[in-house]
Amino acid sequence: MKQLRVAVLGMGYVGLTSGIAFAKHGIRSICTTTTPGKAENLNNGVPPFYEPGLEELLKEMVNEGMLSGSSDNVDAVRQSDITFICVGTPPLQDGSADLSAIEATARDIGVALRDMDNYHVVVAKSTIPPGTTENLILPTVEKYAGKKVGENFGLCMNPEFLRQGSAVYDVINPDRIVIGEYDEKSGDVLEYIYRDYDCPKIRCEIRAAELIKYAANSLLATKISFANEFSRICEKFNVDVYEVMKGVGLDFRINPRFLNAGCGFGGSCFPKDVNAIAALSKKIGVETPLLDSVLYTNELQPMHFVELIKNAAGSLEGKVVAFLGLSFKPNTGDTRETRALPIIEKLYEMGARVKAYDPKAIENFKLSTDLPIEYFEKWEEALRGADLAVVQSDWKEIRDITADDFKRLLRNPIVVDGRRTYDPEELINNGVKYLGIGWKNRLNLARP
Ligand SMILES: NC(=O)c1ccc[n+]([C@@H]2O[C@H](COP(=O)([O-])OP(=O)(O)OC[C@H]3O[C@@H](n4cnc5c(N)ncnc54)[C@H](O)[C@@H]3O)[C@@H](O)[C@H]2O)c1
Repeated sequence: MKQLRVAVLGMGYVGLTSGIAFAKHGIRSICTTTTPGKAENLNNGVPPFYEPGLEELLKEMVNEGMLSGSSDNVDAVRQSDITFICVGTPPLQDGSADLSAIEATARDIGVALRDMDNYHVVVAKSTIPPGTTENLILPTVEKYAGKKVGENFGLCMNPEFLRQGSAVYDVINPDRIVIGEYDEKSGDVLEYIYRDYDCPKIRCEIRAAELIKYAANSLLATKISFANEFSRICEKFNVDVYEVMKGVGLDFRINPRFLNAGCGFGGSCFPKDVNAIAALSKKIGVETPLLDSVLYTNELQPMHFVELIKNAAGSLEGKVVAFLGLSFKPNTGDTRETRALPIIEKLYEMGARVKAYDPKAIENFKLSTDLPIEYFEKWEEALRGADLAVVQSDWKEIRDITADDFKRLLRNPIVVDGRRTYDPEELINNGVKYLGIGWKNRLNLARP
C-alpha cells in the first residue's frame, strides 16, 4: 500500500495527540480546528494546551514536516486518504451528547469527497453514542458527497482511550486498538495505519466499538465510586481504605488500578460519558441503577470531603483555606468537571476564604467561577498564613511539600487530603494534624 496521509478534524486532547502519534509513526498528518489562531500556533510549534511531552514532540513533528495545522476541514480531507473525526461531544442539559460538531465535520467530509476520486476512509474517533456513526455520520457524508459507503468510501469507528496527564505517551503506546468496521476493506485500511503499533487490535462491528468506549469509561468510573463509597465505610471503622483496596486489588480478577479513593472523579470524560450512556439507555427503556449510583456517589464524595475539612477546622467561619490543586487531576490544566469547584463553592457557603494554588490550571479555573479566590503560582504563597491546607489534586509539586513546610507556613499545621497525597503516618509523626479521605480520621481527631 502507498504512504497514506491522514486528516484529523479537531485539535483537542484526542485530535492533536493522535495527529502527533501518527506523525511519530511516520504518517503525515494535518490537524484542523475552528478556533481562530490555533492552526497558526500549531504551525509555529505552540500547543493549545498543556500535556507532558507535548510541546517538544509537536515542535519536532512540525519541523520535520510530518504535522501541520489548518482551519480548513474540506482542504485537509482533500489532501488525505483517511479522516479521523476527533471533535468534542460535550454534554447537553439532559446529559445526552451534543453531536453538532460531529455532524458539521461529517458535512465537511462529504463536501470534500464530492470531487475526490480516490477511496477514502472516514473514521469516528470521538466518543459517540451507539448508532451515531451509522445513523448520523454515514448518511451525512453520503448526502454531501453524493457517493455510497462501501463503494466510494469506507467507514470505521475507532474509540480513543488516552488518559489526560499522559495523553502523548498513551496515544503513541496504546494498550489496545479497537477497529469497528463498516466492511472488511475499511477495517483493513485502518489496521494498516496502525500496523506499527505494538498492541492487541480488535476488529468488531461499529456499534460494538462505540459501546466499548462507554462501557470502559463506565467501569473505570464504577471502580472509583466503589473505592469512594468504601472510603466512607472504612472511615467509620477507623480503617485505612488504601490498605483495604490493596488487599482487594491483588486479586488478579480485579487488579489494583482505579481503586484509589479520593474526593471524586472529574474531567471531560467520566462524568460526561456515564451521564450520556445512562441518559440514552433510559430513553430506550433500559434502567441504569448502577450507573446512576456511580454518579450519585461522585456528588456525595466532595461534600463528604468538605465535612472532613470542617471537622479539621472546627468551624469554617472566617477561616482561610490553602487549596492545593484546581485541575481535575495532576499533569493537566483541564478543569472540566473538577471536584475543586463544588468543594470551593461549599467552603465559601460555609464562611471560609480560599487561597488557591495550581501549577497549570489557574486560568481555566478562573473561567468557571466569580468567587473572590486568591490565586497563587507558588504553593508557599497559598500556604503562608492560611488556617489549614486542603489537597484536591496531587501534583508532584504538591506531593513534595513536607511536614516542615506545613508547620513553617500554615497558621495551624493541619492538612486535609483528598487524594492520599501524603503518607499520613509521616505527617502525623512530624507534628501535622492529618485528616484524609478513607483514613483513620477519628483516631487523628482524638490526638492531642
Ligand atoms: N480528553 C480525553 O481524555 C478523551 C479521551 C478519549 C476520548 N475522548 C473523546 O474524544 C472527543 C474529543 O475530546 P477532546 O478532549 O479532544 O475534546 P476537546 O474539547 O479538547 O477538543 C475538541 C476540538 O474539536 C475542535 N472542533 C470543534 N468543532 C470542530 C469542527 N467543526 N471542525 C474542526 N474542529 C472542531 C475544537 O476546536 C477543539 O479543538 C470527545 O468525544 C471526547 O469524549 C476524550
